Amino acid sequence: MKNVFVMDHPLIQHKLTLIRDKNTGSKEFREVVKELAMLMGYEVTRNLPLQEIEIETPVSKTKAKVIAGRKLGIVPILRAGLGMVDGLLSLIPAAKVGHIGLYRDPETLEPVEYYCKLPVDVHERDLIVIDPMLATGGSANAAIQFIKDRGAQSVKLMCLIASPEGVKAVCEAHPDVEIYVAAVDEKLNEHAYIVPGLGDAGDRLFGTK
Ligand code: URA
Repeated sequence: MKNVFVMDHPLIQHKLTLIRDKNTGSKEFREVVKELAMLMGYEVTRNLPLQEIEIETPVSKTKAKVIAGRKLGIVPILRAGLGMVDGLLSLIPAAKVGHIGLYRDPETLEPVEYYCKLPVDVHERDLIVIDPMLATGGSANAAIQFIKDRGAQSVKLMCLIASPEGVKAVCEAHPDVEIYVAAVDEKLNEHAYIVPGLGDAGDRLFGTK
């Protein structure tokens, strides 16, 4: 699928293996998720436009490139997305951070927004929606739609592990959204967990299980 970028860099794959391992505890899990977000951020920001400015080195005047004042926004989907924020912020410290929280209505099974706070100038920003696991695609699709409804025009999705079903669902619902992942796994199981995956990303980040 043309909008899906699987980052198979050896460092990314090595770190992904560390967090897949069930014997990796929360402290290391958090550290490695942060590192992965940083490494993946390098690729997600690859097409940021540059502009030339004049500077003076200790030797001579020269023209040199800087990022062309592009405004970025990072939007973690609560709660597991929080684990990826610091890694991205360490690369792009000027980015604003919005938050979106969703729960699944037990009767309709539809995602319902319970929290959404975005930068006021959301329509001017390139937004990177982050969530470690792209499982059914239900939350990601709803989050992207809520953000678009508030005026966002440029949205990317960055996840650590995706299922084939999740990738397909987002590609179909949001063909304008590029998806960046470290791996597309085999399948979803009957509980909507990614197989082999890494378990519940939120629980592993926050030690709640
Ligand atoms: N959310 C998770 O944290 N893990 C999965 O495998 C699927 C959804």
